Amino acid sequence: MPSAAALPPRTRSALDRNLALEFCRVTEAAALAAAKWLGRGDETAADAAAVRAMRWALSGLDIDGRVVIGEGERDQAPMLYIGEQVGTGRGPKVDIALDPLEGTTLCATGGDNSITVMAVAAEGHFLAAPDVYMEKIAVGNDLPEGVVDLDDSPARNLRNLVRAKKIDMPDAVVCILDRPRHEELIAKVREAGARIRLIRDGDVAGVMATALPESGIDMYMGIGGAPEGVLAAAALSCTGGQMMGRLMLSTADHIARAKTMGVTDPNKVYTREEMVAGHVMFAATGVTDGTILRGVRRNRQGALTDTLVMRSQTGTVRRIQATHDYTRKTLAS
Ligand code: FBP
Repeated sequence: MPSAAALPPRTRSALDRNLALEFCRVTEAAALAAAKWLGRGDETAADAAAVRAMRWALSGLDIDGRVVIGEGERDQAPMLYIGEQVGTGRGPKVDIALDPLEGTTLCATGGDNSITVMAVAAEGHFLAAPDVYMEKIAVGNDLPEGVVDLDDSPARNLRNLVRAKKIDMPDAVVCILDRPRHEELIAKVREAGARIRLIRDGDVAGVMATALPESGIDMYMGIGGAPEGVLAAAALSCTGGQMMGRLMLSTADHIARAKTMGVTDPNKVYTREEMVAGHVMFAATGVTDGTILRGVRRNRQGALTDTLVMRSQTGTVRRIQATHDYTRKTLAS
């Protein structure tokens, strides 16, 4: 089979479209597996089940895939580690960013907003982010470029945002991870007069919510995982939306690790386009109910899943509600 790059553009885009739907099956498989551990208090088992299912579903795809954002370094993770080759090796050469269970604690405690997520782009198009924290700011689409800036104060960013959105300050809602490190940020947002949605975990969904008007969230601010930052940037590349992130490389070890992954300036502020260059495909399935996706629901014969599949090239956002029949031999069984 010729590689995707060797195919004429029309064939190539047809291939891309088919793949986007294939990726839906991968995040569905992980969500179905993780949901079996809902509220059972065992984060490790929930995560392991999602990893195994995602790895298994990826292995059947006709791609020559390489994990660039995954479960950690090779010696820390048995599967889906950074650098692992996935797929049959027969299709297009792609890089994959994934999180088989984003919001592990949420799943283990039955909390909202736990999802399974992956994004796919051409080789070298994702920022190879080490597993450190990242300062993030994100807003949705249809806003003037540069309306917010990571280095501006929360008050200034909020003023600029409400002016651009033509809303009143008390109507603006900022999503922030509920962490002691955000005490000052939370106080500043309140002082500026905006409202806050504090989330326990899951800032990929938090960032994505800024681009989905039905979420009621206008801006995301705060410090979360860097790999999650790249995944969120991939989602915003599809929906539209602005995002900036700065890796928090606070120790010599962090800086050295980042350097081996190609990060030369430890203080660099990355735009969405620098975290994810070019076209990307994105899929996320709900494990537990959340702002943007419903969780896995059991029915008599199997389960229902809710997935978002998006492509930046076309801006198509598909919501796929699937019924999985456990009485037949399917991906879900
Ligand atoms: P996990 O699923 O790996 O537990 O990540 C959940 C999460 O809330 C992310 O969404 C977020 O980026 C990160 O953890 C924040 O890290 P911390 O819990 O250390 O504040």
